[in-house]
Amino acid sequence: MTERVQLGKSGLFVNPIGVGTNAVGGHNLYPNLDEEQGKEVVRQAIENGMNFFDTAFIYGPERSEELVGQVIKESGKRDDIVIATKAAHKIIDGETKMDNSPKFLKDSVESALKRLQTDYIDLFYIHFPDEDTPKAEAVGALKELKDQGKVKSIGVSNFSIEQLKEANVDGYVDVLQSEYNLFKRGAENDLLPYTAENNISFVPYFPLASGLLGGKYDENTKFDDLRANDPLFQGEAFKQNLRKVDQLRDIAAKKEAEVAHVVLAWYLTRDSIDAIIPGAKRPEQVLNNLKTLDVKLTAEDIEAIDKIFR
Ligand SMILES: NC(=O)c1ccc[n+]([C@@H]2O[C@H](COP(=O)([O-])OP(=O)(O)OC[C@H]3O[C@@H](n4cnc5c(N)ncnc54)[C@H](OP(=O)(O)O)[C@@H]3O)[C@@H](O)[C@H]2O)c1
Repeated sequence: MTERVQLGKSGLFVNPIGVGTNAVGGHNLYPNLDEEQGKEVVRQAIENGMNFFDTAFIYGPERSEELVGQVIKESGKRDDIVIATKAAHKIIDGETKMDNSPKFLKDSVESALKRLQTDYIDLFYIHFPDEDTPKAEAVGALKELKDQGKVKSIGVSNFSIEQLKEANVDGYVDVLQSEYNLFKRGAENDLLPYTAENNISFVPYFPLASGLLGGKYDENTKFDDLRANDPLFQGEAFKQNLRKVDQLRDIAAKKEAEVAHVVLAWYLTRDSIDAIIPGAKRPEQVLNNLKTLDVKLTAEDIEAIDKIFR
């Protein structure tokens, strides 16, 4: 049996290397991806013992959930798989607004169940906070769905520390998903200490900084997607960021690993990070990310990586 760890206190057991599927089915960040290739990412991940898939209504929109659900169903391994999905985006006449109202969340779970072709969702996140709904009320709606067996655990995403505390007033939050990577470490100031103290699992998104921490880019790499406007990828900042990534190469070489593996292994040494969800556009990437599990970082390695990006 492939390695499994529990996500906090959720009762969900996952391979620590999960699969981010925002590229499966096409997404505004990574448009024009081939659907067959997206399905192959999921298929090969399952065949190689991965069982933690992160999707959302808005990826596609809807299409990522549909494709992920289809491949999981075909695999016949639904019982071993942990599906995480998210909702909050309400699209009316082409305009998108966030909605965390109990009615919207309950309707979202029902429609996600259909797209995923399943009768339960292992981990359901409120994708983004809205402006109006008290957070404990929103999470309370998910607790009702949990009591009915429609969702197995409750997550929130992109919540500030204040919103997280309010959402978790009854202790119902199992998982927080937030942006966190070696370039963006703001979560260390408040969110990570809170999740560690409250046995909430912290799932970092953009763990590879949209590929920048994968160690494959140089100053001449051109991007034709949202990265073309991402501040991490612009001018002098991009060059400085690449120099930091270069400093990881010696550490990676010492471990006979690639830069992406030492980066991903570093997150797994953090308190309350049980699993990560690097994104993959091709099956080779998803399988390559699995090699992270062979990397054992020493205390000195952990400190050295920390220092480069502190
Ligand atoms: N909750 C939220 O609001 C939120 C927001 C964003 C994302 N997410 C979740 O987080 C997941 C991850 O985000 P992401 O995919 O956008 O970014 P990411 O994980 O930081 O970067 C993924 C990109 O890194 C490159 N890569 C992947 N494996 C690699 C490897 N082994 N070696 C070198 N490069 C590699 C690929 O890009 P190239 O092939 O182009 O190099 C890949 O598309 C998403 O799929 C989604 O599930 C959640």
